[in-house]
Amino acid sequence: MSLLDLTPVVPVVVIEDAGTAVPLARALVAGGLPVIEITLRTPAALEAVRRIAAEVPDAVVGAGTVRTADDVTAALGAGARFLVSPGTTPSLLAAMVSSGVPYLPGVATATEAMTLAEQGVREMKFFPAESAGGVSYLKALSGPLPDVRFCPTGGITPANAPSYLALANVGCVGGSWVTPAVLLAAGDYPRIEKLAAEAACLRTSP
Ligand code: 3PG
Repeated sequence: MSLLDLTPVVPVVVIEDAGTAVPLARALVAGGLPVIEITLRTPAALEAVRRIAAEVPDAVVGAGTVRTADDVTAALGAGARFLVSPGTTPSLLAAMVSSGVPYLPGVATATEAMTLAEQGVREMKFFPAESAGGVSYLKALSGPLPDVRFCPTGGITPANAPSYLALANVGCVGGSWVTPAVLLAAGDYPRIEKLAAEAACLRTSP
């Protein structure tokens, strides 16, 4: 099964303290969102991936903000089970293709999507979704590129997520709203679980 079809929402998480990673992942799994993207933006990110991979077997933890081949190597070493990037470079794509795990390279235009499709990639992150054209842009792409599917990320909210999820070429959406920094800092995992449970119900079409 494709990464895009596992859950309607992939939480995009910024971890400042690796000690929060395991309880956070447990809360997301309990709320119904087992696919978790840890962004490689903080010093704690790789340790967070490592701990979730080791201690939360029901989570599918991956790395986001993957920008280089070295990032791919580090993410795999930590136990990442998928890779997500904001954009795509030739060397990054080559590393993703040979990683052996599912990957969602980032695109924001028809040309970028076509360039990846030419190389056999059919599933991509659409980023930054709201700024790059949003629902209407993705809907327009489905005509000429019916075989390409996306995970839009960037500016997705509980209010606009259902419109994205209703598109034929969208499998899931990504977003940071499920794991707000303030709740993580406060260790408010029950509230995060509740946000996850609400997000898990957002899909409006089968
Ligand atoms: C990101 O990579 O930062 C994601 O796109 C998250 O975007 P959001 O904070 O707008 O959900």
